[in-house]
Amino acid sequence: MPQVIRSKYDLKAVIKNIKSKRASIGLVPTMGALHQGHLQLVETANQHYDVTIATIFVNPTQFNNKADLKKYPKTEEADIEKLSATGCDVIFIPEVKEIYQKEVTIGLNFGYLEEILEGKHRPGHFNGVGLIVMKLFGLVEPTGAFFGQKDLQQFRIVSTLIADFDLPIKLHLVPIIRETSGLAMSSRNRRLNDAELKIATTIYSALHLAKAQLIEGYTQEMVLDNVERVFREENGIELEYFEIVDEETLLSKTKVSEGDRLALCVAAFVAGVRLIDNIIFEYKECKYR
Ligand code: PAJ
Repeated sequence: MPQVIRSKYDLKAVIKNIKSKRASIGLVPTMGALHQGHLQLVETANQHYDVTIATIFVNPTQFNNKADLKKYPKTEEADIEKLSATGCDVIFIPEVKEIYQKEVTIGLNFGYLEEILEGKHRPGHFNGVGLIVMKLFGLVEPTGAFFGQKDLQQFRIVSTLIADFDLPIKLHLVPIIRETSGLAMSSRNRRLNDAELKIATTIYSALHLAKAQLIEGYTQEMVLDNVERVFREENGIELEYFEIVDEETLLSKTKVSEGDRLALCVAAFVAGVRLIDNIIFEYKECKYR
């Protein structure tokens, strides 16, 4: 059974003990309502480090939409069971007042990363993510930290934190785990009924349609037009953005060339639930055109 810890004080004592044995620590930050995507991060952490520490904390500072924060699913007991079955060693589940004992005065600015994609549509979100991740890094002092490709821009944000603050932490990117329908697993999927879950698979089909059309030589404009049409023609889904970007910088690609590493990034609403997804691939022109 993993050790469940709720206070920073107890966590520090556990970390001190782990460090005294010179054991390495893999950190997996989550907001709970765990699914196989989260557990994949834990499994990968188990493979790389001596001790795996998962955190469950619905971080209020990263929610720009208070209704979304209120509706965020909480399934603590089931989460502990899942983590236990996955071989997690320590689970940190603090209350909000434990983490934010005083009002935070510091602000993080990630430059252009805040102006694009998720940053553009969720003002203040990445400041909140940066704050909690820095707090967790300070508390856990991990050797390595695990984040999912599902939140690709979040991964770039954390990688900026590590680079700019010279943090001695190795960052690991874990691929997206999907339902058999192709829908990316997400805690927010719990808020959808069967019909809505089916509609949500439009997101994955659109990503693949766009990839296929790019490879076939369609221009970006044509691809984006076609994707927008797919979303318009499907009832019950509303596209927020769909972009073709450079995988590393996440900046929009105006022209794609052989060998480019591209990411197609999308956000859409189904029944008022905001879902995001992406695929990454190396652009190779189709030879049979
Ligand atoms: P949360 O949404 O709970 O996600 C926790 C981690 O699981 C993130 O790194 C996310 O990218 C990863 N993840 C989610 N769905 C996944 C999937 N289908 N496949 C693979 N990985 C997946 O992201 C957050 O929480 C928060 O912003 C956090 C980093 C914990 C800071 O509060």
